[in-house]
Amino acid sequence: MRPFYVTTPIYYVNDRPHIGHAYSTVAADVLARFQRLRGRPTRFLTGLDEHGLKIERRAREEGMEPQQFVDRMAPPFRRAWEALNCSHDDFIRTTEARHERRVQALWKRLEAAGDIYLGDYEDWYCVGCETFYPERELADGRRCPVHKKPVERVKERSYFFRLSRYEKKLLDFYEAHPDFVQPEGRFNEVKAFVRGGLRDLSISRTSFHWGVPVPGDPEHVMYVWLDALSNYVTALGGPSDPGEAPLFDTFWPPSGQVVHIVGKDILRFHAVYWPAFLMSAGLEPPTQVWAHGWLTVDGEKMSKSLGNFLPPEPLAEAFGADVLRYYLMRDIVFGQDGDFSHRKLLARYHGELGNGLGNLLHRMVRSIVGRYLDGRVPHVTDDRLEPMDRDLVASARRLAATAAEQLDAVAPQRALDTIFELVANANRYIDRTEPWKLGKAGDRKRLEVVAYVVLEVLRFLSVMLWPFMPERCDVLRAQLGLPPLTPRQGVDLWPSSWGALPAGTEVAPGAPLFPRWDERKQREVLASLGVRDDEDKMTTNEGTKDARKNEQAREASSAEGIAHIVYDDFAKVQLRVGLITEASKVPKADRLLQLAVDLGEPEARTIVAGIAEHYTPEQLVGKRVVVVANLEPRKLRGILSQGMLLAASHEDRLCLLEVPCDLPPGASVS
Ligand code: MSP
Repeated sequence: MRPFYVTTPIYYVNDRPHIGHAYSTVAADVLARFQRLRGRPTRFLTGLDEHGLKIERRAREEGMEPQQFVDRMAPPFRRAWEALNCSHDDFIRTTEARHERRVQALWKRLEAAGDIYLGDYEDWYCVGCETFYPERELADGRRCPVHKKPVERVKERSYFFRLSRYEKKLLDFYEAHPDFVQPEGRFNEVKAFVRGGLRDLSISRTSFHWGVPVPGDPEHVMYVWLDALSNYVTALGGPSDPGEAPLFDTFWPPSGQVVHIVGKDILRFHAVYWPAFLMSAGLEPPTQVWAHGWLTVDGEKMSKSLGNFLPPEPLAEAFGADVLRYYLMRDIVFGQDGDFSHRKLLARYHGELGNGLGNLLHRMVRSIVGRYLDGRVPHVTDDRLEPMDRDLVASARRLAATAAEQLDAVAPQRALDTIFELVANANRYIDRTEPWKLGKAGDRKRLEVVAYVVLEVLRFLSVMLWPFMPERCDVLRAQLGLPPLTPRQGVDLWPSSWGALPAGTEVAPGAPLFPRWDERKQREVLASLGVRDDEDKMTTNEGTKDARKNEQAREASSAEGIAHIVYDDFAKVQLRVGLITEASKVPKADRLLQLAVDLGEPEARTIVAGIAEHYTPEQLVGKRVVVVANLEPRKLRGILSQGMLLAASHEDRLCLLEVPCDLPPGASVS
């Protein structure tokens, strides 16, 4: 097993941590946790970028010495990652002596390779980016292309790195390593940039002093990006020769696999400058640079002036760290830009997590095993499995293998798609096997099989979701009677073999994993986070939105006077008694249930109803309801719905209209 080393960018300490930083850190944590579960030697590094003009200026603005300032800014980052259950092995700060010493060693290697020379430098500098821009890259009015703020003309004596020497070497390296940069589209941008020609890079400054002194010429401090990029190596004890630094020997290529997680804005530094520095130092480049997109917040660019700067800690406190981690990894395709939306977070919380996963656990552990099987995992031999059971077992094994491939390929969002396919399969299986009926009918033999199959799927899920939601998964495991997961090097815990849940294990039904929040609680939480009222409205669930629309319509009609209809209009609507004979969830549609409804016709009708938030499938079977029988059929999620059920609703409550006596299906209602 090749050692695995994953890193986040080191964050500038001129600001507090926000949800964009959290996105990188959580992604790296998920990858690290996954690889540890596989038993791979794993190291996860994060840290802080504490030098440079930007930090020096901020410190002065605050009336502090730079060191005092960075010492004050560092703890909030540590606390944020702790609040998010991040499991980094090391946290590096570029002002630490261990780092400064080793960056100087790296400099000497570049110098020894003949790649550093002294010259004069004059160009446009953006302090926000800590980078020089040639005139042609500037935005209108001599502004930085990223920050759109005026750039500064900087002229000074400077050491240069012979980047131009590495043009061909880099292109050859890219050619030989087609996965070096992901996503692929971004790799093409990098190649085009290098093909466009590389200028030597100014790598020292004399006009300020907050940086690592250049060895032998302390008037100069090192360019902050050379200083910062080196952290990935210095934290391992490098640069070093074989045998000098065990961590470096283990985790850096050729021995280790290195994945740098970065935002798209800093890809060029990682994919062009960094491998060139390493080549010059006689070291291997990293294995892969993964550039993720940028997050907006509720559709807007995050900024303090807009009041939507989102620090991660209050969010973790309000929703739970695991829910926040899950949402970040679930809702945003890794590699693309995405939007952090409070509304979508709550929808996923109540939908996939509450109704999907939480309900699956609750239904099985409390309602079935607790009630009908003495609270113990039954003993079930393979020969008792029916084809339907074998299908679910096969899908669990197949989906576990697929999710592992996707996590190996740094596609956390796709892995979650796969994992939730298994949740949906298991819920569908419960709907079809109807274990509560088996329990009531006293068919213990069959019930044991159904329960065992679902409990095993839950065990699979408790591992597959652990990299994303470690705390919730350990709680889930406790309810299954299993110990928390403790990854160990050399032991692969990823689920693959069936039947590892020991018979006789006592389950421990507990509180719901993702308890439902009523509207008041949702409002309170959002208010505590300072979510504005208009967003708050959007944040309530769809049903409530509909209820509000209805209310508005009612208000409008009473203002205008009621528009009456004649009896003939009403008589056009055919209302009939329908008997619900089957019910199941519609995959990937949180609100929809698919029903088979007997209307006294030769075949039952299929009706898709948006009531999944109010009824579980098992509550519906056997109900006599009122159906609009002559409504034009409509496709919903690819399913042809042949009618509509009548329901009463008020605010976020909804009740189906039921027929209280046993009139035959198809009887007319008027
Ligand atoms: N210090 C440098 C990185 C040096 S790595 C050797 C830096 N720091 S930063 O604090 O400005 O940004 C750190 C990371 O946060 C970058 O990857 C950046 O893309 C990311 N993000 C900053 N704002 C973001 C969003 N709104 N959304 C997602 N990521 C964002 O650059």
